[in-house]
Amino acid sequence: MTAPGFIIVQPQVRPFIAHIRLNRPKELNALNLQLMQELRDALKQLDEDPQVRVIVIGGNEKAFAAGADIRQMVGLSAMDMYNIDQFATWDVIKKIKKPLIAAVSGFALGGGCELAMLCDMIVASETAKFGQPEIKIGVMPGAGGTQRLTRAVGKALAMEMVLTGRFISAQEALSAGLINRIAPVELYLEETFRLAAEVAKQSPLAVKMAKESVLRAFDSTLEEGLHFERKNFYLLFSSDDQKEGMNAFIEKREPVFTGK
Ligand code: HXC
Repeated sequence: MTAPGFIIVQPQVRPFIAHIRLNRPKELNALNLQLMQELRDALKQLDEDPQVRVIVIGGNEKAFAAGADIRQMVGLSAMDMYNIDQFATWDVIKKIKKPLIAAVSGFALGGGCELAMLCDMIVASETAKFGQPEIKIGVMPGAGGTQRLTRAVGKALAMEMVLTGRFISAQEALSAGLINRIAPVELYLEETFRLAAEVAKQSPLAVKMAKESVLRAFDSTLEEGLHFERKNFYLLFSSDDQKEGMNAFIEKREPVFTGK
């Protein structure tokens, strides 16, 4: 039994680019279980759609997402949390092979900041605010906020954000290495689509393997990561796109990648 949808999906907002908009505006896109399940299902479907090469996840100007839904969690016990196992949804999203770009305006807090960090790149509007304020409601980050944030911005700032709940501005997030770029609020979505288009014109196979390889850097030793990278590099020589890309260079023309 599902209530009206909490996301809006445009599979072709631009050529090869899909856009998923989180859509619980009155609750600042608080991530309840249904929204996360809808997001997971949409992402899985788009990951299999050959017409989609890059997926943008956004909210609205006021909020990307203000975190997990506190009203839904307030009365739960540890066993409820264990049985609901909400992070299983996040594990599926982590396995999406196509690049995900977060378009963040306004609040990206708690699970919202963690969702943005689960994406591969982040474009922010000038009004974006990133934070892990869980400490203020008696808990702590649970979907990567102590891990991905620390890897992105380093221990000093991550510790401060996680222990005090302080929000950082788009500018501070850019300086700290959390996000890729900032645009004025009326342009941030266009800027995200522009970045997405830069990726979408590359070989989709090479993009997926490159994403997988970069992410491997967080989970392995340097030696293992280099080994993984090398295997993917070799593997791409079995693709048409490798022949097309290199021949196009030699013939001084633009490549046409097919994902084969
Ligand atoms: C449920 C939320 C919500 C949330 C906002 N709302 N955030 N509802 N869960 N996380 C609701 C408010 O209750 C309110 O509903 C409406 O959205 C507007 O919010 P206001 O507080 O009135 O807006 P404002 O004064 O502008 O303040 C914005 C805000 C504040 C600073 C973002 O809402 C806030 O602090 N929100 C909680 C942020 C947070 O703690 N996030 C972490 C959650 S824990 P009504 O009906 O009253 O109008 C978490 C764990 C992650 O994320 C685990 C992994 C999934």
